[in-house]
Amino acid sequence: MSTYVVVGLQYGDEGKGKITDVLSAKSDYVVRFQGGDNAGHTVYVGDEKFVLHLLPSGVLQCKGKCIIANGVVVNPKAFVKEINQIESKGMRTDHVFISRRAHVIMPYHILLDTYREEEQGGTQIGTTKKGIGPCYEDKIARVGIRMIDLLNPEVLREKIEKNLKTKNSLFEKYFEKPTLDVEEIFQEFIALGELLKDRIVDTELELNEAIRDGKNILFEGAQALMLDIDFGTYPFVTSSSPSTGGVCTGAGVPPTALQNLIGVAKAYTTRVGNGPFPTELDNELGENIRQIGAEFGATTGRPRRTGWLDLVSLKHACMINGINNLVITKLDVLTGIHPLKIATKYKTEDGKIIDYFTSSTTKLYDYEPQYEELDGWDEDITNARTYDELPANAKKYIEFIEEHLGINVYLVSVGPERSQNIIRKELF
Ligand code: GDP
Ligand code: IMO
Ligand code: MG
Repeated sequence: MSTYVVVGLQYGDEGKGKITDVLSAKSDYVVRFQGGDNAGHTVYVGDEKFVLHLLPSGVLQCKGKCIIANGVVVNPKAFVKEINQIESKGMRTDHVFISRRAHVIMPYHILLDTYREEEQGGTQIGTTKKGIGPCYEDKIARVGIRMIDLLNPEVLREKIEKNLKTKNSLFEKYFEKPTLDVEEIFQEFIALGELLKDRIVDTELELNEAIRDGKNILFEGAQALMLDIDFGTYPFVTSSSPSTGGVCTGAGVPPTALQNLIGVAKAYTTRVGNGPFPTELDNELGENIRQIGAEFGATTGRPRRTGWLDLVSLKHACMINGINNLVITKLDVLTGIHPLKIATKYKTEDGKIIDYFTSSTTKLYDYEPQYEELDGWDEDITNARTYDELPANAKKYIEFIEEHLGINVYLVSVGPERSQNIIRKELF
């Protein structure tokens, strides 16, 4: 058996899609296990850009199957739209399947997400407004609608009726917004069930059989550890577990089956949405990094906040995930910046120096990152394909990260295109 898990270690958008695409060429299965279409995973094939939201990024070159497992929240309309987009570019999608157990994002989830954010004024989370939080809430409250329910008219109608009773009352009385119609939603979603019925399957059985048969299985995380519902900067987080641990509950595979735990981090840090960001560069340098790194959200188009690499949070993310292989992306974006800074410690509000991440989100705003300075480089590194081709200072940057975290960087990404990688060790 060979299993691979790709997870984000920062605040999302580390380049997980690109890495998943690279690894998926040799995978029999590529599996999404949490999140939904709040994700935006970009893959460049030559000049052609693909942005995957709900489909595993393996869809482009995996010869086996792409699975949307039980832990994902699925907007079936977004799924159909994405399938059509991919097919219109001449790619196949007949190898994409969805778990019968996956929960469905309903129109009222999207409205709730939107109304709540609007209501907050300046203190909103800055969600993607895709209905992710409200859908997971219903799952945990045991009133959610699952993909399997789209295939059973009686169950579906009853569940929509029950849900709309409470949701409509909230829309009308609390938010002072229009209510939704049971019949309209029922007709739309039963039709989606009919359209997707051949793709709705029991994915956990097949995945466990594949593990037993020694197939290559790649689990693709969305979001990242610092947006994790438990270990991120709560409440400025998403509503799922984007950690390696999330694979077990999100795909129905045992912890003992997980082998290669690959953590992806940018050579610097970005964050889209609100919440603390200790190493943020809210200045001209930050703006330069945003422009050079094209740091604009793949799902919402919002400008991403930018900042220095933060090894305090990265160490926390590696610990919770048990990362045994690191990927550093976007090293090319740091070319020409002098000096480079990396945070290794924080100074707390009462002057204490700490090297671990805190659970107190409010205090984090007052923590001052303590930086180490490293010399930069000016050479163009986007055509480097072996580690030795990198300038000495770029290698020092990578080795500083490795030494601090005690984990090897097995892949350095030096550009957005599929082939712009320095692979130091073949994992497959
Ligand atoms: P994901 O959500 O983790 O899959 O990442 P996104 O696709 O949202 O954001 C990463 C962005 O960086 C995308 O636009 C990628 O095309 C781009 N990218 C990935 N790796 C590199 C790299 O090494 N260098 C540069 N310049 N861009 C990269
Ligand atoms: P990928 O997979 C970056 C952020 C939102 C917001 C918070 C909660 O492309 O890395 P949500 O809609 O999930 O309830 O929003 O999480 N967020 C992401 N930020 N990349 C993502 O996904 C994200 N998915 C959600 O901006 O701050
Ligand atoms: Mg993204």
